[in-house]
Amino acid sequence: MSEQLVLLQGDITEQSVDAIVNAANEELVGGGGVDEAIHRAGGPAISAECERLRSQQGGCPTGSAVMTTGGQMNVKAVIHTAGPVWDGGEAGEPESLEACYRNSMELARRHGLRTVAFPSISTGVYGYPVNEAAERALKTVKAMLAKHPESYDEVRFVLFSDDDLATYKKALDRIG
Ligand code: APR
Repeated sequence: MSEQLVLLQGDITEQSVDAIVNAANEELVGGGGVDEAIHRAGGPAISAECERLRSQQGGCPTGSAVMTTGGQMNVKAVIHTAGPVWDGGEAGEPESLEACYRNSMELARRHGLRTVAFPSISTGVYGYPVNEAAERALKTVKAMLAKHPESYDEVRFVLFSDDDLATYKKALDRIG
């Protein structure tokens, strides 16, 4: 299973996988950080589908996941998920963060998307401490890989900074 889970430093918009996951907001209106990078790299088709999702189902509640085209990127789909805004850790943020990873992986599985790339959800603008987020994220992804090993060829965490990569590596060593 360990070869199914990969940690690397890089730009998620440059990954050649079936699906990349976007750290979006509930309104799917785009923003800064990885959201901006994905919209820029994927082009207007992505925001057009986000607009349709917004009008049809009101957007993407925290912890849930929706899917759009990958647009001009070398991916089949973008899975958008809205992470929790950090508020001290006692307001359900850990459970919401786990739901982001679980629901994104479930959506990929349902659509036969076998290679998935995640950014470090909620640890930028939304202020979630990277160390705690890493442990939750890795535990959740590992649990999904153990539950459905046949559904995924590779799940990778694409960390933007070397520091974040080091933090995720330490968290993975801790949880084994
Ligand atoms: N590739 C991979 N990771 C990236 C990239 C990229 N091109 N650009 C930024 N990141 C990293 C950040 O360094 C951070 O570690 O993604 C992680 C998530 O940070 P944010 O993008 O700020 O996302 P988040 O903290 O979940 O906040 C979401 O910010 O951009 C807005 O519209 C978005 O409202 C939403 C909020």
